[in-house]
Amino acid sequence: MSLQLGSIAPDFEQESTHGTIRFHEWAGSSWVILFSHPKDFTPVCTTELGAVANLKAEFDKRGVKPIALSVDDVDSHKRWSVDIEETQRTKLNYPILADVDRKVSGLYGMIHPQASDTLTVRSVFVIDPNKKVRATFTYPASTGRNFDEILRLIDSLQLTDSHSVATPANWKDGDEVVIVPSLQDPAVLAQKFPKGYNAVRPYLRLTPQPNR
Ligand code: BEZ
Repeated sequence: MSLQLGSIAPDFEQESTHGTIRFHEWAGSSWVILFSHPKDFTPVCTTELGAVANLKAEFDKRGVKPIALSVDDVDSHKRWSVDIEETQRTKLNYPILADVDRKVSGLYGMIHPQASDTLTVRSVFVIDPNKKVRATFTYPASTGRNFDEILRLIDSLQLTDSHSVATPANWKDGDEVVIVPSLQDPAVLAQKFPKGYNAVRPYLRLTPQPNR
């Protein structure tokens, strides 16, 4: 069965381009995006790993550590990193796990045998500082992921944690947000949302983004 939202992200020890990673220890008190890709020296993967490296400042701002994974070995990752850095004009500033023995892929369900018996699909796990899996999604090998969407997802999760709000369809940072239905006490609402809110329906209450 695949990992479910709210479950603890499995801990592991695996080799990487940054040496041996003990996952929970490495994650520390940060958020993490753990993302797998099918294979080194392939075009879509090259652009994806470059895109993540180029977003370092955005991940840092949100307290997020990225970590990539494929079933190729460390030597291959290191040789491929040179190509990524040259072609995507960046520095690879996060580790790539070398999951040669499929230990991590197995724990996280990153190999989908109907797609490929041996290669990892494009899985993403967003993991919070308590090591809980907060979001997951999977793309096929042929479609590169939108890492701006992953930043948007992290912004939404962090806003929910800090301000008891949810984010509506197509929300972007700075747009109105939704007050979670569990909040009903008028005194708490007044204290949490001093700018007020618009109850379009009793269950659909919009308020300006509280941290803006
Ligand atoms: C790619 O990264 O371009 C790729 C990898 C595996 C299969 C198809 C495409």
